[in-house]
Amino acid sequence: MGKDVIIACDFDSAQKTLAFLDQFTGRKPFVKIGMELYYAEGPAIVRALKERGHRIFLDLKLHDIPTTVRKAMAVLSSLDVDMCNLHAAGTRPMMEAALEGLTRPDGTRPLLIAVTQLTSTDQTAMERDLLIREPIADVVMHYARTAMEAGLDGVVCSPLEAGKVHEVCGRQFVTVTPGVRFADGDKGDQKRVMTPAEAKRIGSDYIVVGRPITQAADPVAAYERCLAEFIGE
Ligand code: C5P
Repeated sequence: MGKDVIIACDFDSAQKTLAFLDQFTGRKPFVKIGMELYYAEGPAIVRALKERGHRIFLDLKLHDIPTTVRKAMAVLSSLDVDMCNLHAAGTRPMMEAALEGLTRPDGTRPLLIAVTQLTSTDQTAMERDLLIREPIADVVMHYARTAMEAGLDGVVCSPLEAGKVHEVCGRQFVTVTPGVRFADGDKGDQKRVMTPAEAKRIGSDYIVVGRPITQAADPVAAYERCLAEFIGE
């Protein structure tokens, strides 16, 4: 599995996104398009970034009945994205339907990654609102195992969980980890963070980095620092 740094393009317009990416004249970064940008610009933004040569993680976190997810995934797959995701809480039949929808006639498909429990959900909210009484760490690992059994490629998780996910689901199971900060950087609203070097040590496959790059005085230098720390380029 190719290790890489994915830049979270959390912008609200194509114009801001393209202006930001125009600064990268060398290596084309792997980019994440989330709900904000996709809902603002639709599939055109995916096509525009593909045309410019970027690999794309389309972070839309699908969660619906299996048939709907299968059909929606077929549409996303035809956009030729490289990675997309869903909520493992949709259960195994939904994840299996998603894989079916994603698989193109030639057998290829984007990587499919599951969100376990959102990092904004803590033990108290999970017990109170979802009536799930198990320890949250066990719930996350159970969702990861179910995603693996359904045939998915990996999970989004905190870098702190990546090592354990690999222990439970195997080294080939991909870990995509947000919550990355430079040792001398601002944590912002992320609570449990790791540096790119620590994420590398613990075995993350992809780190998703937003503000430490997008808000940096020199975004290209910040991106290159991430690459250097995470994959030693
Ligand atoms: O700016 P920052 O580096 O915190 O951005 C992290 C990105 O990863 C954002 O797009 C955020 O929505 C996403 N993310 C996260 N934590 C999760 C899942 C996704 O921060 N558990």
